[in-house]
Amino acid sequence: MKSEMISQMMEVARGCGQIIRKASEERIGADIKSSFRDLVTKYDVQVQNYAIGQLSERFPGAGFIGEESGEYEQAESALTFVIDPIDGTANFVHHYQHSCTSIGCIRDGKPLAAVVYDPFLDEMFRAEKGQGAYLNDRRLRMEDLPLSEGLVLFGSAPYNPELTEETFRNLRSLFGKCQDVRQSGSAALDLCYVAAGRAALFFESILSVWDYAAGALIVEEAGGRCTAFGGNTLVFDRPVKSSVLAGTPASVAESGLL
Ligand code: IPD
Ligand code: CA
Repeated sequence: MKSEMISQMMEVARGCGQIIRKASEERIGADIKSSFRDLVTKYDVQVQNYAIGQLSERFPGAGFIGEESGEYEQAESALTFVIDPIDGTANFVHHYQHSCTSIGCIRDGKPLAAVVYDPFLDEMFRAEKGQGAYLNDRRLRMEDLPLSEGLVLFGSAPYNPELTEETFRNLRSLFGKCQDVRQSGSAALDLCYVAAGRAALFFESILSVWDYAAGALIVEEAGGRCTAFGGNTLVFDRPVKSSVLAGTPASVAESGLL
């Protein structure tokens, strides 16, 4: 079962994916944002403008929080869309072919609907509150794997060098408990891979709300847990930054990060 809302969000995410796919056929130039690691391309901006344009036509009065706008509309409206037009920008720039568009829809401070679309594999992850999570047409129901039976994904918090020690200390400790570790370059897809049972756990010391707004609902609707480190509740309706811990209930409990 799909609501009209999620169908509309999926159409918009697919449109974003078409722009990303087409752009990736040519050389992609990048500009630097906060540091030499933090890149932006003209396509990040183009995809975000496309997504906001499409969503405002389909959901008149909605508010937006987007990675590239820099502005924040304090949404008085019922719905706020939290958009990462290209999550995995460094991958995109290097033609690594592992990036996505992430769109979360927030109502009353909580995720209501979410889509994450990987145009390279044509994988559409989606969830609606109380209605389950899906990968394309397949319902995702997570097996409660312990760390010893799963992979651990991590984000390196690349734009925050002050968190490097902490990240690799946590990684070292988790490496001792799990089958192996992976680093993908797209936090939104990492969350979806946890939801799909491809990994038992994901952690990153700092992310922005647009990185996790959609993926968090997809994880929870697949039967997993998604919180900040320490078990703190994530914030979804403001442009905040937070640590993120997601996984099977068993692996989150064992992670040492609660
Ligand atoms: C980044 C990716 C990366 C994660 C960073 C994010 P961006 O988003 O999700 O995997 O490690 O913390 O900022 O910059 O590619 O949109
Ligand atoms: Ca991102």
